[in-house]
Amino acid sequence: MSHQSLLGLDLALCVVGAALWLASGIIVARNSASRWSPRLALGFALLGMLPVIGRILIVIAVRDAGWWFIEEKVLLALPLAAVTAIVALVIAVPPLIRRMRRRPESIRLARVATALLAAGYGSAVGVVTTLIIGYPVGWVATVSVVLLLVVLIAITAAVLSDRAPRTIAALAALAVLVLVASAGYGWLSTTAGVTAANASHGHGSAAAPAEPEASVSVADLRTPESANSMRFTLEAQHQEVQLPSGATLDAWSYGSVPGQPIVVHQGDTVEVELRNRDIEGGVTVHWHGVDVPNGEDGVAGVTQDAVLPGESFTYRFVAEDTGTYWYHTHQHSAEGVRRGLYGTLVVLPIAAEPAVDLTLPLHTFGSATLLGGSDRREKVEVAPGQLVRLRLLNTDQVPRWFTVTGAPFRVVALDGRDLTGPTDVENQQLRIPAGGRYDVQLTMPETAVAVRTASAADVGVDLIAPGGRALDAAPAGLPTLDLFHYGSPALTPDMAGPYDVTDTLVLDRAVRFVNGLPGFGYTVNGAVYPLIPATEVSEGDLVRLIVVNRGTDTHPMHPHGHHVLVLSRNGVAPAGSPLWMDTFDVEPGEVWEVALRADNPGIWMDHCHNLDHAAEGMLLHLAYTGFASPFEHGGPVGNQPE
Ligand code: C2O
Ligand code: CU
Repeated sequence: MSHQSLLGLDLALCVVGAALWLASGIIVARNSASRWSPRLALGFALLGMLPVIGRILIVIAVRDAGWWFIEEKVLLALPLAAVTAIVALVIAVPPLIRRMRRRPESIRLARVATALLAAGYGSAVGVVTTLIIGYPVGWVATVSVVLLLVVLIAITAAVLSDRAPRTIAALAALAVLVLVASAGYGWLSTTAGVTAANASHGHGSAAAPAEPEASVSVADLRTPESANSMRFTLEAQHQEVQLPSGATLDAWSYGSVPGQPIVVHQGDTVEVELRNRDIEGGVTVHWHGVDVPNGEDGVAGVTQDAVLPGESFTYRFVAEDTGTYWYHTHQHSAEGVRRGLYGTLVVLPIAAEPAVDLTLPLHTFGSATLLGGSDRREKVEVAPGQLVRLRLLNTDQVPRWFTVTGAPFRVVALDGRDLTGPTDVENQQLRIPAGGRYDVQLTMPETAVAVRTASAADVGVDLIAPGGRALDAAPAGLPTLDLFHYGSPALTPDMAGPYDVTDTLVLDRAVRFVNGLPGFGYTVNGAVYPLIPATEVSEGDLVRLIVVNRGTDTHPMHPHGHHVLVLSRNGVAPAGSPLWMDTFDVEPGEVWEVALRADNPGIWMDHCHNLDHAAEGMLLHLAYTGFASPFEHGGPVGNQPE
């Protein structure tokens, strides 16, 4: 069993344990004269011990996965479950046995029932600690949980021993007080003041104090104008888009869906004027995967203000690295990208490239699936023997699977970085994380090649020889290519450490106040944006990030402005090509270690590219010391990058 399923089992055992103990307590409290009642109560109580023991064994079994996965269980949930269970056994078992033997002496019913019910509450705490507290366990949470448990037990005792209603009411009031106080603390800490996680950079929260030391504004980290740049214009707008199948989209677009393909050569200065015609909430353009200067990064509220209707903003950057990238809005991005504010950017090498070069972003609009600009199968004629490059992009929120059948192919680049020693692949599918890109190269065979996605069988690209026929490909059930075992190793001595900064990001889901409202937020180290402490680096630092997924969702983590080198996944280093990525999928239960060189100063976003998760909190900053943002989250413009 994977440790992730063991942790799921732990949660189930909390519930089962609680049910058994509560059943036992309720039977005793009902005080029936039946000779079965003490037997049942005793049986449930003894059974109730099993989940507690099982949970202890689970914690022992998963401890190697890392402390992050078990902290709240070891520190809080298990001690409370075990102590209440043992106390219940000590208090309840002897009198229940006496009852079974029909000894004449009376037992103290209230006391026995309270002890058994308390063990039920003690087991139930495990659910609360995992779903509400998570990692790390703070002292406020610990105190609140213990207090609540004690008050709940006191209320139970008072009710069962027929205490005056006033006493019970007072205890209930106390319980409410504890609840309100801890919720209030939680709420307060999401508004200004209590936790000034990002305050030291003068960004993030409106109440941030002024930067004490001299700092450079990220607004100044721009690319100078150049006389001979490649110029493009993107006009953001509401647009009714007619798809090749005839279906129409009610889109937000940059003029078309996807936006116009931007293709430049390495070394070009790219100049893109963004105009907002009528997107009320504002737009920006973020250059996903391009390590542009911070001031060109297009993040509303961090590197610029959202561009409101009638306004414009001109981005400039030098296309330093060849490869496949994309662009999208970073204002209300969860909604904006989904609705069509995205496009592709390809940086070609100056040397000649394959004759056939297709850029195929996969995007889902409700029930429509778009590969490139089409929601159908498109045919492309290619002469046999020609070299073909397929640039596969996933612009959705979740991983997507692609297949290329009909010819062996190589994955030559990942996230805009060449892989070393790629070898031929056949009959394997490609799993691309949200936001990620794979560049595939193949030689056109005499027959045909089919490019498909698992998202929609009737959408794809058929490469056919002139006059030839498309493949009738509907490949299913192919194994997934694992890039951890692909290509050949190469040395990356600069990244081997020692690390100047190591930051651990524990990803999870927990009840939090998101934008001031209670909800099931996506957390990093127990907090949601903007309260997640930034990863603080200085220029030149070698930085290691340890990213732990405690939750049950996949999190494609995307640090802006940098490519990271994958050091390990679950402790295992890539066996093939070095993997440089800008968006890496951390699946449930996984632990990734990645390294980056802090060589691009500014205040950068680092977030989950399931943009819905980002909108619910999973977003932090990678912040260089000495830099500050003059822009604010919210504010008069309503900056809302996620
Ligand atoms: Cu593709 Cu922060 O984004
Ligand atoms: Cu996520």
